[in-house]
Amino acid sequence: MYLKIATVNDDSVVAVKKLLAETAQRADKCLPAYLPEVGKPAQHVTEAMRHSLAGGKRIRPLIVLQSAQTFGLPADAAMPTACGFELLHTATLIHDDLPTIDNSPLRRARPSCHTAFDEATAILAGDALIIAAYDALAAQADIDGVSARAVVQVIAEFGRFAGAGGVIGGEAADIRGEGLKADRDLLEYIHLNKTAKLFEVATRAGAILAEAGDQYIETVGSYGRLLGLLFQITDDILDVTSSAKALGKPTGADEQAGKQTYPALVGVEGARQHARDMAEQALELTEALPGNHQFWRGLVKLVLDRQA
Ligand code: IPE
Ligand code: IPE
Ligand code: MG
Ligand code: MG
Ligand code: MG
Repeated sequence: MYLKIATVNDDSVVAVKKLLAETAQRADKCLPAYLPEVGKPAQHVTEAMRHSLAGGKRIRPLIVLQSAQTFGLPADAAMPTACGFELLHTATLIHDDLPTIDNSPLRRARPSCHTAFDEATAILAGDALIIAAYDALAAQADIDGVSARAVVQVIAEFGRFAGAGGVIGGEAADIRGEGLKADRDLLEYIHLNKTAKLFEVATRAGAILAEAGDQYIETVGSYGRLLGLLFQITDDILDVTSSAKALGKPTGADEQAGKQTYPALVGVEGARQHARDMAEQALELTEALPGNHQFWRGLVKLVLDRQA
């Protein structure tokens, strides 16, 4: 039934895990460059940004860098863009945790931003991280071998899908969907917008910077979208099956808030099956990529089986 998943060997998953850990280390060195000097009266905002940036898995930077590499640009040459995605992603987590959104006290194994600081600081730190993301994306133009035209295309796509046409639209629907009867169309809208579109743009970004052809940009973007959908399904499953200790964020929160999730719609086993369907589709797309197959295949399996 799930023929392709069975062909992904454990070695490629181990290799992706290692690469993710190395990427996280390198990204963590580059991220502070995008935290602005604000002066003493607003120093707590930069502290809050720093607080919230710490401890993420850095999967979106990994995707940007490996997409660049797949299409011929050395991975680290795309680091400013990779940082841009992580800055924006971290902002979405800060805002997602706010009392009026998910009201979550724990994030990345630390107190969430508004818990460690206060609500006003968390809102402003999130805002500041969104703007800082554009600073990082623009810094990509200083890197040799990358055209200004490609950088502008990435910034334009980022702007389109990081805002109301993506994460914010998804978050808005997620909140409005609380307490409603499980609704497949609404759930698909939420997952696509709040999570998958950013994965799609992250994969596209690396390919655009490397000047891959349009066909390849589309293919790797479709792969990214499927990976993002898979990522959010496994996030929903882990909220039911895992622990705050393993995840560094609360569990059981989705059911408590009456969220639209796959476990709510089709049960945990149904959600797992849907995750495997997404994984099969993503694996099929890897066959149309020009190289780096072991990485893209291993990444699907890693996300499918992830425990955190
Ligand atoms: C959490 O993303 C938000 C979702 C889209 C489910 P991650 O699981 O990538 O969180 P960090 O960055 O590792 O903290
Ligand atoms: C939010 O989804 C994804 C974002 C766009 C921030 P969740 O609300 O499920 O993410 P977690 O579980 O809090 O990380
Ligand atoms: Mg949420
Ligand atoms: Mg949340
Ligand atoms: Mg969740």
